[in-house]
Amino acid sequence: MSTERIERELYLPDAAATAALGATLGAHLRAGQALALIGELGAGKTCLARGVAHGLGVDAPEEVASPTYLLVVEHEGPVPMLHVDAYLPDKTRAFLLDGGLGYLDECGGVAVIEWADRLVDLWPAETLEVRLADDGRGGRVARLAGPAGAFGWLAAIGAPARGD
Ligand SMILES: Nc1ncnc2c1ncn2[C@@H]1O[C@H](COP(=O)(O)OP(=O)(O)OP(=O)(O)O)[C@@H](O)[C@H]1O
Ligand SMILES: [Mg+2]
Repeated sequence: MSTERIERELYLPDAAATAALGATLGAHLRAGQALALIGELGAGKTCLARGVAHGLGVDAPEEVASPTYLLVVEHEGPVPMLHVDAYLPDKTRAFLLDGGLGYLDECGGVAVIEWADRLVDLWPAETLEVRLADDGRGGRVARLAGPAGAFGWLAAIGAPARGD
């Protein structure tokens, strides 16, 4: 299997842009794939996850919230979204190793993992990494990276690379 990676850097001037990026990702992600969300408190992880839920077409995307302390929340729909929280990595790790990973694989859904940098060794093979950081101007910059074979469509998604 090729190890080639694809990377994009996108500028997100406001929360609507974060949600719109999430919706675009949700429209492209396939069952069995995962999104690894990485960023500090308030970076916009949950905002992006809610956008993904819209893009996937889950039944009640507005119900997506920070799942902290719940480990995983399943949002039903044609392609379900499993919203996983690794803020407390030991508990999430135990859940994933005790059947959770198998469930992510078999349930026909997309996993969206917040604080995913705390569980890097458990990422599914087809995981798209999204790093959100403050851009110093009130917005965010998103750095996306993943295996090119699975996420080649990243090259074509539209958004300015850097706002000027
Ligand atoms: N691109 C952006 N520019 C400016 N503000 C944004 C942007 N994206 C999201 N926000 C805002 O940042 C705030 C925090 O967003 P959110 O709750 O999604 O962060 P989070 O990473 O999930 O935080 P936490 O780790 O505390 O749960 C919200 O008020 C949201 O509207
Ligand atoms: Mg959150």
